[in-house]
Amino acid sequence: MATNPSNGLEGDNTLQSICYHRGSLKLLDQRKLPLETTYLDIKDASDGWLAIREMVVRGAPAIAISAALSLAVEVSNLENFNGTPVEAASFLAGKLDYLVSSRPTAVNLSDAATKLKEVVSKAAAAAASNCQSVFQAYIEAAEIMLADDVASNKAIGSYGARFIQNQQKDPTKLSVLTHCNTGSLATAGYGTALGVIRALHSEGVLERAYCTETRPFNQGSRLTAFELVHEKIPATLIADSAAAALMKDSKVSAVVVGADRVAANGDTANKIGTYSLALCAMHHNIPFYVAAPLTSFDSSLSSGKEIIIEERSPKEMLNARGGLGEQVAASGISVWNPAFDVTPASLISGIITEKGVITKTGTDDFDIKDFINKAVGQCIA
Ligand code: MRU
Repeated sequence: MATNPSNGLEGDNTLQSICYHRGSLKLLDQRKLPLETTYLDIKDASDGWLAIREMVVRGAPAIAISAALSLAVEVSNLENFNGTPVEAASFLAGKLDYLVSSRPTAVNLSDAATKLKEVVSKAAAAAASNCQSVFQAYIEAAEIMLADDVASNKAIGSYGARFIQNQQKDPTKLSVLTHCNTGSLATAGYGTALGVIRALHSEGVLERAYCTETRPFNQGSRLTAFELVHEKIPATLIADSAAAALMKDSKVSAVVVGADRVAANGDTANKIGTYSLALCAMHHNIPFYVAAPLTSFDSSLSSGKEIIIEERSPKEMLNARGGLGEQVAASGISVWNPAFDVTPASLISGIITEKGVITKTGTDDFDIKDFINKAVGQCIA
């Protein structure tokens, strides 16, 4: 393990939401994009919790990794911890539970917390353990999550690009519609659905990417549009409400979106508006793909009905710029502002992961557990 690990993107021209070196974490304040590029110093788990809750950092993988690293920074700089290894492990577990409470829908966060708790409880049980060895095990495991996410995203990009091309009549001129932001800013780097778009572009087969505004927080117009321009990918921004008309005009070869939680049957929670896009895609006979790392899967839930959907502040809708700007809605109106919706598996054509693409075998649902069992140790194209 390198002493100064990071996501390995230094020198790369891609945008970096998470800047980490052991003992130091800076998060790009995504609320200020695209007009200002400001990094906030995250010194401990409390800073991490607030940055996630307040949308400084967002996107399922980025939330999980930022949370894990905020605690890594706290323990790297911890000077006086006079406890036993078991007390060190329970200190970390308590902080992880607190971090998980920042946002409920993306499973990546609780998945990371569960894995990290296992690491520290094993470290505490080791014969020659002391509290420093427990903290060291935690820091190293959190750092591995940062590096692993970039590798997973690159694999998702290449599996997705290949699969989509194989499904198309003319695989040399593809136009892909995406929703929300699933790029470098939403992950440790490269991106999931946006990673697939990047891979298609680098293979020279992407005619155009279309991104939705993604109201009310405008992750599409502020973040995805920013990334697409930055990457010089030919792209067009559309209002969320223009998607059906775009599909009707035969301008979309495929829709690719990310995921915050995929249930065991393939039902997928993602940014509000994803479900409408899937319905429109089905009506227009356009394939609809979800691109997500295995850390976004929750096999403990049999269907999407069990997914908890975060409701966010009415202010995000009442005021411009996702609540940060001037008032735009009539005073006194009541608001319903779910941050996510669930797209049923029946509307999803395939789920692109770092281990290959999950397809259906004759039913409306996906057999995620079977895929994961088979995928461990092998890749399925
Ligand atoms: O509320 P957000 O911005 O955190 O929502 C993000 C999304 O819904 C993304 O599509 C999802 O997290 C996948 S990111 C690779």
